[in-house]
Amino acid sequence: MKGVIVGITGPTVTVDLTELKLYDRVKVGRAGLQGEVVRLARDHAVVQVYEETRGLGVGEPACPLGLPLSVRLGPGLMGQVYDGLQRPLPLMGETTGPFIRQGCELPSLPPGKKWFFTPLKKTGERVEAGEIFGLVRENAIAHSLFATTGGKISRIVQGEMDLQRPVVELEDGSLLYGFQDWPIRAPRPYSRKLPPTSPLITGQRILDFFFPLALGGTAIIPGGFGTGKTILEQAIAKHAAVDVVVYVGCGERGNEMAEMLEGFAALSDPWSGHPLSERTIMVANTSNMSVAAREASIYTAVTMAEYYRDMGCHVLLLADSISRWAEALREVSSALEEMPGEEGYPTYLASRLSGYFSRAGVVETINGKTGSLSMILSVSPPGGDFTEPTTQGCLRASGAFYMLDTHLAHRRHFPAINWVQSYSLYEEDVVRYFTETICPEWAALKKKALALLQKEEKLREVSEIVGAEGLQDEDHLLLRIADELRNRFLCQNSFSEDAFSTPEQTVRLMNLLLDQYEQASRRLAQGEKLDDLLKELR
Ligand SMILES: Nc1ncnc2c1ncn2[C@@H]1O[C@H](COP(=O)(O)OP(=O)(O)OP(=O)(O)O)[C@@H](O)[C@H]1O
Ligand SMILES: [Mg+2]
Repeated sequence: MKGVIVGITGPTVTVDLTELKLYDRVKVGRAGLQGEVVRLARDHAVVQVYEETRGLGVGEPACPLGLPLSVRLGPGLMGQVYDGLQRPLPLMGETTGPFIRQGCELPSLPPGKKWFFTPLKKTGERVEAGEIFGLVRENAIAHSLFATTGGKISRIVQGEMDLQRPVVELEDGSLLYGFQDWPIRAPRPYSRKLPPTSPLITGQRILDFFFPLALGGTAIIPGGFGTGKTILEQAIAKHAAVDVVVYVGCGERGNEMAEMLEGFAALSDPWSGHPLSERTIMVANTSNMSVAAREASIYTAVTMAEYYRDMGCHVLLLADSISRWAEALREVSSALEEMPGEEGYPTYLASRLSGYFSRAGVVETINGKTGSLSMILSVSPPGGDFTEPTTQGCLRASGAFYMLDTHLAHRRHFPAINWVQSYSLYEEDVVRYFTETICPEWAALKKKALALLQKEEKLREVSEIVGAEGLQDEDHLLLRIADELRNRFLCQNSFSEDAFSTPEQTVRLMNLLLDQYEQASRRLAQGEKLDDLLKELR
C-alpha cells in the first residue's frame, strides 16, 4: 500500500492513506522523512513529521511502515549521543557532515561490535517473553538481554555475540536477538511499584540536606531566564549517585550541549571513578533541530531509561527543558488545528505531563529485580511566571519543587534555589534514612538550620523597618551566621572544587556552622563583646 502527500502544514503532512493505525510510522516524500500518524479520517491521515519538511511537495510518495515509532534497545546505548529519533549524532557527523541530512538513516546501535555473552538459559529450557535469557558486560553494567517472545530453546550462543546474528533460536523457529525495538509511547511493563524511600544523592548540599529527592522520585527545576537551570542539571548529571544517566537537551542551545559533551569526556563518576560517558546516554534535540522530533525526544529518552531500570539499575533522567517540549507539542497541535486550551497549549497538556511523570518510580521488575527511574526536569516559564500552564502541570505531577530565584541569581548566589518556597515530598523518608545511616543528628540539624534561616528572614524584615541599630546583639550574631550559612553551605559553585559534596561532607559542614553559632551565642550571653565574636567568625 502506497499513497501520496495531499497537503502540508508546517511539521504535519496529510496523506491519502487509509488503512493505518494511530501512531503508525510513515515515510513521506522522496527524501523518505520519518513521521508518525497523529490523526485518522475516512479518506486521509495526518502525519507528524520528525524532520524538516522544507522542500517537500504535494504528490510526493508516502509509504506506511506499520510499526509505531520505536527505539532500539540493546548493548551499546551507553556513551551514545542521539538525536530525538535515536540517530547517533557523531556517526551522522562523520557520514553526512555537520548538518543532519533529511531522511538520513543510520544504525542506532553498533551492529558489528562484539560482546561477550553469558547465557542464563540452556538448550531445551523454556524462556518466557520479557524474561532475561543472558547477560552482556557493558562498562560497569551487567546488561540483561530480554526475550521478545517465549518458547523452548533449540540453540543458544555461548561467548561472543553481536547484534546482527540471532543469539537464541526457539523450537518454533522464532529468533531472539541481542536487541529489541520498543514503541516510545508505551511504558515498559513491571510487576509492581514500590514506594520511593532511599535517597538519590545529587552532590548538591542544598538539595541533599533540605529538599532531598528519593530514588524513583520526580523533581522540577523551574526558573526564569539565566537563573542556572542548565548548570544545575549538568552538575547533577555529573555527580548523582546512580548507575545510569539519560540526559535530554530538549530545545535548548546547541553550544551548551556541545560544551557539556566535551566536559564529560574528561570527567569521571565521583562514585565509581569510571569515565562519566560510560554511564551516560545523551539525547540532543537542540533549538536548531526539528520541532516534532523534540516532541518525541523525551519519550525516546524515557524508554531507554526504563530499559535500564528493568535490569535493576538506578536510572536518572534529566531534561532541559520540558517547556521546550510543551512548546513543540503546542506547535504540532496548532498545525493540526486542534482546539487550543490555556495560552494556546493543547487541552491535553496536563494529562500528557502527568502521564510522562508517571513513568518514573521504584519498581519490582517482571524478572523480580528492583530498579528505579528518577526524573529531574527543568522548566523555563516565559517571563518567570510560574502560573503558566507547563509549570502548573509539572507542579501537580512532580514530587519535589526546586524553585530558582531571580533575585538570588542576580546576586550570583548559585545554585539560586529559593529555600523558603522549594519543597520535597520525599523529605520525611529520606531524612529518616540519612539520620539512620549517615548521622544521627541529621534531622535535628536540619530543623535547627531551617529555624535559623526563617528567623533571619524575619529579622531582615524588621531591620528594614527599624534599621540595623534597632536590632539586639544576638540578632546581629544570628544574621552573621545566616550569612555564613548562605555563602558556605547554600552556595555551591559548579566551576570549583566545591561542585560536589558527599552527604557526610554536607552534614559535617552544617554541624560546624551551627556549632560555631551555639558557641558564639553562649559567649555572648556570658558577656563577651559582639564585635570580638564577629571578628573571630571572619
Ligand atoms: N551553580 C553555579 N555555579 C556557578 N555559576 C553558576 C551556577 N549556576 C549558574 N551559574 C551562572 O549563571 C549563568 C547562567 O546559568 P544557566 O545557563 O544554567 O541558566 P539557565 O537558567 O539555564 O538560562 P536559560 O534560561 O537561558 O536557559 C551561568 O553561565 C553561570 O555563570
Ligand atoms: Mg539553560
